[in-house]
Amino acid sequence: MSLENCWHPLSLSHSIEAGSSAGTRLLDRELVLWRDNNGVAHVWEDRCPHRGMKLSFGFVRGDHIACLYHGWQYNSGGHCQYIPAHPTLDVPKTIKVPVYPVHERGGMVWTTLLENPPLMPEDEEPVAPLRSLYLCCGFEAAVAALGASQLVPFASKTPADTTVSRMSDTLFAISCAQDRLLAGVQAISNTRTALHLSISGSAERYVGAGQNHFNDWALQWRHTVEQARIADERLDQDVA
Ligand code: FES
Repeated sequence: MSLENCWHPLSLSHSIEAGSSAGTRLLDRELVLWRDNNGVAHVWEDRCPHRGMKLSFGFVRGDHIACLYHGWQYNSGGHCQYIPAHPTLDVPKTIKVPVYPVHERGGMVWTTLLENPPLMPEDEEPVAPLRSLYLCCGFEAAVAALGASQLVPFASKTPADTTVSRMSDTLFAISCAQDRLLAGVQAISNTRTALHLSISGSAERYVGAGQNHFNDWALQWRHTVEQARIADERLDQDVA
């Protein structure tokens, strides 16, 4: 599996509101994720073609984003359409930000580095947003930790038999009793990974108490993973 050739989650959908932008990283690339005022999400290279300012510092206005530095405005296709210092200029079409495909699935915003990506399947069930977690480890270590996870069902207080299944290269389902979490794994760099978690099921069942329950579980899971990593590093140092 090559991470260059698949879809990647960048954020929970509810974390990026209409009219806002956020910087993120994928496979060491700087990206800006922004949502226009119509609610459509966009993923671009996080670099203004003028002087390289991060576009994630810019302002979303309607269906375009304006760079913080000199105010160049880019439409939803990434083309510069207006330069404040030259208001009558017919801006050359070559002034363009690289844009990436976007899809929303499982309560997450996804992108891919492929120019002609395969379609993503649509959701079969509604989801409730949970949270994003950031781990100091690479993609494979995060996936291995996910595979060993034990969920605590919403209706119970003790861990129970848990099944972790791979739905795609970067999307996992953690199932236990009646509950199912979706975990999108974002490969930020060789040493940083993000997990974007949502709960598969009706909002009536999970919003509020269910989200709190699984939020506590997620924080405890991350603590356990980090403690295990620290113990491994100490062991490596002792052996060395
Ligand atoms: S750096 Fe973006 S407009 Fe100048």
